[in-house]
Amino acid sequence: MQTTIFVTGGAGYIGVHTLVCLLEAGHRILVLDDFSNSSPQALARVEEITGIKVPFVQGDVRDTEMLKRLFADCAAHEVPVSCVLHLAALKAVGESVSLPLKYYDVNVTGTLSLLEAMRTAGVKRIVFSSSATVYRPETTLPYTEQHAIGPSNPYGQTKAMVEQILQDFCHADRDFSAIALRYFNPIGAHHSGRIGDHPAGIPNNLFPYITRTAIGSLPVLPVFGTDYSTVDGSGVRDYIHVSDLATGHVKAIDWLCDNDIQGFHPFNLGTGRGTSVLELIDAFETANGVAVPYEVRARRSGDSAEAWADVSAANLVLNWRAQHTIEDMCRDGWNWQQKNPSGYEK
Ligand code: NAD
Ligand code: WQD
Repeated sequence: MQTTIFVTGGAGYIGVHTLVCLLEAGHRILVLDDFSNSSPQALARVEEITGIKVPFVQGDVRDTEMLKRLFADCAAHEVPVSCVLHLAALKAVGESVSLPLKYYDVNVTGTLSLLEAMRTAGVKRIVFSSSATVYRPETTLPYTEQHAIGPSNPYGQTKAMVEQILQDFCHADRDFSAIALRYFNPIGAHHSGRIGDHPAGIPNNLFPYITRTAIGSLPVLPVFGTDYSTVDGSGVRDYIHVSDLATGHVKAIDWLCDNDIQGFHPFNLGTGRGTSVLELIDAFETANGVAVPYEVRARRSGDSAEAWADVSAANLVLNWRAQHTIEDMCRDGWNWQQKNPSGYEK
């Protein structure tokens, strides 16, 4: 019987890349998104890339009754939901410090709402977008999945709380299974240049700041600290091509569904390699033949010096490994930025 993968937040940056991989792998999907940080245009681009219609509902993941109706509808049409992919969330770390209640509401209450609807409908599997930000910073590297949990901001707390809720839910219902995918730093864009990241306003994250500086819409890139004890003094992170991250979701869903897995399973999704801010700027300039003017500033509060993943669990268990290089990420991200200087707006 055909089943449905129900994707919350599917119109977002990671969502659209994941939809492409799910559709190309032959999965049937249904997207739920309130478009608070995305637009239906992004889904139209997924249709353009894959040639497959993307069914979607505009709605809020906190609307439990609506979720129950959607699950019941899928079952009534003999395409029951076999797995939920839960990406819908708010993700700006700085905003989560000033508006914590908003973050706990959307990210935690939203997940409770989803789990309640899943319980009613008998949907037993979920793959959740977690983050490397759940790890307690600044201890031993690389981070394995057993590393201590200790987020340093409300956004990270919401991810750690949802992981705990999923563990407790799996414990209470032995037929229920959950995967938490702990993403490191997703960057880049689909090689077609038709989908990518376009944060509203001034970007918080390094990579979109680089592309907007390179294209001239921002004058200069601030480099937050060159006095860390790292390879060149600047911060080191594990950047991963968003298309590799996307294939990780398909592997996670297939592993859950094909093997009748039970319980809670966290997996890091990264490359296992660290790249410094200055190395990333240099790679971007070399890959694209374009200058990225930058200025060294003070450290950004709350930043750690270095973070990269131990990816052996995803490699061994999910049979997944990132394929793209830093150069691929820089080239594909620049291709998207150049072709879509205003994101999905015409
Ligand atoms: P995004 O903002 O581009 O996508 C999130 C999507 O969820 C958006 O389309 C938004 O409109 C939707 N959404 C938000 N609130 C909603 C609600 N209440 N109901 C329904 N839809 C709602 O972000 P992204 O970068 O694609 O991130 C996807 C997930 O991955 C998030 O859970 C995020 O926390 C997590 N994550 C992202 C990163 C990253 O660096 N991008 C890193 C680690 C984890
Ligand atoms: C990377 C490096 C900065 C901007 C954040 C969230 C994390 C996850 C991914 C969602 C650091 C430096 C940055 C700039 C800079 N998101 N930098 N100039 O901080 O590793 O992770 O995004 O889950 O939760 O915390 O990513 O891209 O912000 O920073 O020098 O303008 O770039 O200091 O060393 P980060 P980032």
